[in-house]
Amino acid sequence: MESLDVLVEEARGAFASARNAADLEQVKARYLGKSGALTEQLKGLGKLPPEERPRAGSRINEAKASLELMVTQRRDALRSVELEARLREEALDVTLPGRGQGGGGLHPVTRTRLRVERLFRSLGFEVAAGPEIETDFYNFTALNTPEDHPARSMHDTFYLKDSAALLRTHTSPIQIRHMESHQPPFRIISPGRVYRVDSDATHSPMFHQLEGLWIDANVSFSDLKGVVAEFLRSFFERSDLKVRFRPSFFPFTEPSAEIDMSFGDGWLEIGGSGMVHPNVLRHVNVDPTRHQGFAFGMGLDRLTMLRYGVRDLRLFFENDLRFLEQFR
Ligand code: FA5
Ligand code: MG
Repeated sequence: MESLDVLVEEARGAFASARNAADLEQVKARYLGKSGALTEQLKGLGKLPPEERPRAGSRINEAKASLELMVTQRRDALRSVELEARLREEALDVTLPGRGQGGGGLHPVTRTRLRVERLFRSLGFEVAAGPEIETDFYNFTALNTPEDHPARSMHDTFYLKDSAALLRTHTSPIQIRHMESHQPPFRIISPGRVYRVDSDATHSPMFHQLEGLWIDANVSFSDLKGVVAEFLRSFFERSDLKVRFRPSFFPFTEPSAEIDMSFGDGWLEIGGSGMVHPNVLRHVNVDPTRHQGFAFGMGLDRLTMLRYGVRDLRLFFENDLRFLEQFR
């Protein structure tokens, strides 16, 4: 039966070229279905002479078995091709660059605060903190600023409605709170937010100060100059820094001086300072004949302006990412 061999070979080709499961079912129907080519051959058996029928029958059954084997083999092959394609499609490419999270960063004034804290710790200072909502007593009275003293008008103060409280206008009340609750010697810095009715390129209604206080048996004005100069040189990493102490007045220090740094063609005031007034020490039961020392209050925002060359301090508080991202 020449034609049966041809049929099997032809079927082999047809199965091999089935592209997917649906194709395969169609090819299978063409050969093994109800009116498939092989089924037709079986139907034709009856027309053969009886002596030829058994041999022809068994040859047809062999052909049928090998076609059925072809179907299962092709089905398996198609399945593994599909599986591979799916795995390829769903695979993660771990070499692709990440999508990125638009990483955040510290605010430039926060960077300054952390840097300042680190430098002063290395000089033996501890970091103290106090409340932003203060009483008149801590913000003014205990700092030797009586009710009718003209110095009170130096600060335009935000007072809280229906209350004796106010937003602290400087970090100096922390000196009082610290000395009340500790024994001398005192050697602290205290960074924090302060508030004043103030707004221009170098003044903001909310800004940051850094209070410093060092009281011991014999701390002098030259220690003040030494500590401040050493701090500023380390902070700006420059040994040729231009700093000046300009005579000034604060009710809580005597003598007093403003600390200025060169800024463009002129000077920028970065802080006030002086020897702590004996009346302030008496207020917190420290004997001014046995203890003395200095205090200062610097503007952290001003230090940040100088460090990064920012000419307008309000940029720090507008939260414009185009500005802030430059400090990441
Ligand atoms: C004081 O506030 C004193 N308490 C400082 C002090 C402390 C003197 C201890 C003596 C002993 P003054 O008002 O000058 O001083 O403010 C100190 C610094 O804060 C200024 O030099 C400036 O750097 C900064 N500053 C003041 N007002 C503003 C403002 N509106 N915006 C930004 N920075 C300011
Ligand atoms: Mg001043």
